[in-house]
Amino acid sequence: MTQISTNIKETNADDSEQATVEEIQVDTESYYNNSKTYWSTVVPTVDGMLGGFGSISFIDIRGSEQFLKHLFKQKPAPGRKRALDCGAGIGRISKELLLPMFEHVDLAEQNEEFCQAARSNLADYGSKLGTVFNSALQDFAPEEGRYDIIWIQWVLGYLTEEDTVQFFIRCAKGLTRGGMIVLKENFTTNNEVDIDRMDCSVTRPLLQMKQLLNQAGVRVVREQRQSSFPKELYPVYMLALRPVIKN
Ligand SMILES: C[S@@+](CC[C@H](N)C(=O)[O-])C[C@H]1O[C@@H](n2cnc3c(N)ncnc32)[C@H](O)[C@@H]1O
Repeated sequence: MTQISTNIKETNADDSEQATVEEIQVDTESYYNNSKTYWSTVVPTVDGMLGGFGSISFIDIRGSEQFLKHLFKQKPAPGRKRALDCGAGIGRISKELLLPMFEHVDLAEQNEEFCQAARSNLADYGSKLGTVFNSALQDFAPEEGRYDIIWIQWVLGYLTEEDTVQFFIRCAKGLTRGGMIVLKENFTTNNEVDIDRMDCSVTRPLLQMKQLLNQAGVRVVREQRQSSFPKELYPVYMLALRPVIKN
């Protein structure tokens, strides 16, 4: 996915070297270890988090802010008590978006150095900053019924399909009444999965993501494309999700 992480920019066909998802994920443990190793080489800065595209952070946050404001008008609207930032990196989104909007914010991030950087970057927020969980999302279960918003951005390309589905199931359980999951991700335009061997990630078509959401029992209640990003980047969509209510 080279370029927000390595993971933001449309790759050309040659970059993928015809690898298949099955090939790179044949051994799940190595797949996860490889991306962990990749991230251990990345500097804990906004530019590092965004694969050298730190300059788009401002537009990204403004787009997310507008999206969230629409969600607060839905019925039932999500509360503003507690949010969870997943794959949080150094806390870029918590700092600029979630902490100003919610009473408390928890973070989940697999890289210990990024967790430390987040604790330090967000220290000014005092007790509004909750727990920074140093955990990989495939192993992480949000506490049940705790979060008004669970924000998941630019990280699901590192999880296998199976773990993505299971993670959504656990996130759905972690929501308060009226709570929502927000997914903000790169998507391919050609209905194919792009593979980035460098950071061991994939970029999926939107349709495939919707199939995974369906399997997880969550539905899309709002969908919007992020505007004003540079043309060479993958299209980025924000999806607001709620658990399907079973009769
Ligand atoms: C492209 S950065 C995005 C960071 C943050 N979401 C942002 O937008 O600023 C990807 C982040 O996901 C983290 N990550 C990668 N695989 C992960 C996993 N399996 N579990 C949790 N975090 C992961 C990386 O360590 C990195 O901090």
